[in-house]
Amino acid sequence: AQTAVTIDVNTANAKTVISKDIYGHFSEHLGRCIYDGFWVDPALNVPKKDRIRLDIVDALKKIKVPNLRWPGGCFADEYHWRDGIGPREQRPKMVNTNWGGVVEDNSFGTHEFLELCALLECEPYIAGNVGSGTVEEMAKWVEYLNFDGISPMANLRKENGREKPWKVAFWGVGNESWGCGGNMTPEYYADLYKRYATYARDYPGAPLKKIVSGANSWDLNWTEVLMKNIPIRDMWGVSLHYYTLPTGNWSKKGSATVFDEKEYFQTMKNGLAMDSLVRKHSEVMDKYDPQKKVALVVDEWGVWTDVEPGTNPGFLYQQNSMRDALIAGATLNIFNNHAERVKVASLAQTVNVLQALILTEKEKMLLTPTYHVFDLYKVHMDAKLIPLNFKSPDYVVDGDKIPAVNASASIDSNGVVHITLVNLDPKKKISINTALNGLKWSGVTGRIVTSPKFNDYNSFDNPNKIVAAQFKGAKKNGNQLRAELPPLSVVELTLK
Ligand code: AHR
Repeated sequence: AQTAVTIDVNTANAKTVISKDIYGHFSEHLGRCIYDGFWVDPALNVPKKDRIRLDIVDALKKIKVPNLRWPGGCFADEYHWRDGIGPREQRPKMVNTNWGGVVEDNSFGTHEFLELCALLECEPYIAGNVGSGTVEEMAKWVEYLNFDGISPMANLRKENGREKPWKVAFWGVGNESWGCGGNMTPEYYADLYKRYATYARDYPGAPLKKIVSGANSWDLNWTEVLMKNIPIRDMWGVSLHYYTLPTGNWSKKGSATVFDEKEYFQTMKNGLAMDSLVRKHSEVMDKYDPQKKVALVVDEWGVWTDVEPGTNPGFLYQQNSMRDALIAGATLNIFNNHAERVKVASLAQTVNVLQALILTEKEKMLLTPTYHVFDLYKVHMDAKLIPLNFKSPDYVVDGDKIPAVNASASIDSNGVVHITLVNLDPKKKISINTALNGLKWSGVTGRIVTSPKFNDYNSFDNPNKIVAAQFKGAKKNGNQLRAELPPLSVVELTLK
């Protein structure tokens, strides 16, 4: 079966830049993301700098990770940064109450995180502790990180071996303050935000981009209260967290690899809801900020399934299938298409946790299907969005329907057009015809991530089952682009 779609691509409409920071990632002290993920046992036989695993760094550099959020998540509101600086053997050991009750030895702290970001050549995004920390503690952390001069915290930083400030910009003021970050009301949190943010200073040459701890999925009232109570000039962004649960049920989310078409359909439907979610929160923001000065920061998103059988339930370790790749492609298309408001996003989480890019098992490392989608989409970073207009055919299961195709397009600084397309229908090929206006191009190349079954995945025995491959299904026909998207595919087309 085959269906045809016509997409209008008009480069004259390209105005808004797709912030590269939409392609950001999240790394929490949770399960095996930091410990036994990025930060490994000195005895592990892999290339390392200090204890940072360099095969992971190399893989992430390849997809140009623009920023990394740390140390949480829920962990951030119980993290006391001074426990994680100075000689490692003197750092206190503590319990990670949020995630598995394991010992946190604080060997990975501020300096180690910023060294990781330097190796990745990405920007740090630090989430400060509002839930159980003090205003003074947060103020001093910022001084330690960003002040270039003589002061108690700048001096302490130098004693710990770092002369120059790091100039961290992205600064989260708490995390999920409606939940694990303190169970607050939005009114109470808005007041606290103003207090914490006042003393998180902009030091010379190091202005902070302060991010308000935003809503849980559909809680529009949370966004409304923040926008009403916090002056626009005092915030750079407002966050939003939304996870795609296959079943929609937190007590039985569904397996990462064992599911039928009905559950596949439901997952896609739940994932595509990100579009209305972004739209609805933006509408609320528009009431107070019609010029869109404040960014929407979707700093936690991704598929959240049941953990792999036999693993610690507090570690959130899950496999990653073709279904995850399709969710990644669709969500990134949604963020691109909302580039005027969404400026930062962070997939949860980079290594060994939730919808990970990378899974490790001792010395072994594999790249998930989600990783390969980020590899395809990196072409959109800082390119100009070309708004698309098209009507997708439906993908129907049990009388319920969702659009089978989603897409986004951009034009980069060299005048090259990139279109990314997702066909989430598991059975139908979809052929695309585009009318290309305002563009001179001589040919098309492409790449594809696909697999015959939606629950196919990369295992340590077969790590390259799903990879990014050359796509040969597109051609130039006069000024028309013709492409044939196989079922279950994420495709990137380059026109130049
Ligand atoms: O990403 C896992 C957890 O999900 C984060 O710690 C928290 O912010 C969210 O609830």
